[in-house]
Amino acid sequence: TASDEELHERIERAKATLGDRVVVLGHFYQRDEVVRHADFLGDSFQLANAALTKPDAEAIVFCGVHFMAETADILARDDQRVILPNLAAGCSMADMADIDSVEQAWAELEQVYGTEPDADGRVPVIPVTYMNSAADLKAFCGRHGGIVCTSSNAATVLEWAFERGQRVLFFPDQHLGRNTAKAMGISTDLMPMWNPRKALGGNDEQTLLDARVVLWHGFCSVHRRFTVDQIEQARRDHPGVQVIVHPECPMAVVDAADHAGSTDLIRKTVAAATEPTTFAIGTEINMVNRLAAEYPQHTIFCLDPVVCPCSTMYRIHPGYLAWVLEALVRGEVLNEIVVPADVQADAKVALERMLAAKP
Ligand code: 13P
Ligand code: SF4
Repeated sequence: TASDEELHERIERAKATLGDRVVVLGHFYQRDEVVRHADFLGDSFQLANAALTKPDAEAIVFCGVHFMAETADILARDDQRVILPNLAAGCSMADMADIDSVEQAWAELEQVYGTEPDADGRVPVIPVTYMNSAADLKAFCGRHGGIVCTSSNAATVLEWAFERGQRVLFFPDQHLGRNTAKAMGISTDLMPMWNPRKALGGNDEQTLLDARVVLWHGFCSVHRRFTVDQIEQARRDHPGVQVIVHPECPMAVVDAADHAGSTDLIRKTVAAATEPTTFAIGTEINMVNRLAAEYPQHTIFCLDPVVCPCSTMYRIHPGYLAWVLEALVRGEVLNEIVVPADVQADAKVALERMLAAKP
């Protein structure tokens, strides 16, 4: 097998040959050997925008996971090709909501809520999908007056939704939905969870009628690992520690932390510290380790003492990056992500609502 250094050189050579014809996007969770080749590094919202800002690139090589590459394909020009270096790089949370279950939930909710707007013109329910979802769920939101959010704009998006609807059906991540709605002052009593395997999601009608946010049952297996015990331990071991977690963490963890926010917010919080500070961070380990290396004046560690990578992000090995870039040099497009035109059109509506929603 090729050594890291050989792969590095092969990637550099292919990128130099391709020049502006290719843009490589990297999510913050990617390993360093991939990140060093990214033209843009960002959170999922920034990367969705980055794909738009490179209109000259014929190919967008997305070092992230499947739903991010789909989003780039939806937002990119039709003749731009989007490539996911390893097609097995999915997201287990995104896989927890599929279109059939969401359609079924929608039909059941319509039975309970009807379809008539209230006196203020607000429809009974607005579907909101987290960016971490398949393109056909984004398309569902586009068709049903709904919208997409990321962890960096979830509050803005929920406000947008409550201007237009009495309630929100939020999928797939229960934690982002709960944490965001709670921070907006909505009682957790008014946030029933929807389990697609049960009739009415396992709720009685009155609970659904009272609901402000109906939460899908999905979660991220990386962020679910963080606990309040870990935060208490960090506070005991490091008096004055600042705890920052991603809003995909459970509510009790977010409540016990000092800050919660997207990967970009976590980075900005560390970057803003002017005095040497200890940070305990509840998110993916590659990003935490990179922050620790970038800011040696601070003490930065992962809240979970057992290493917690996102195993699917990790499937973007530099060997795959070299492979798809060298193919592009030969004029071959490998591992292309193509969202069907009808799905794309509806999904774009929901994504553009997100891009236009202002705080
Ligand atoms: P960000 O939107 O913060 O980049 O998060 C994406 C993600 O997958 C977190 O698990
Ligand atoms: Fe999906 Fe969690 Fe990985 Fe993010 S960290 S891509 S939500 S599995």
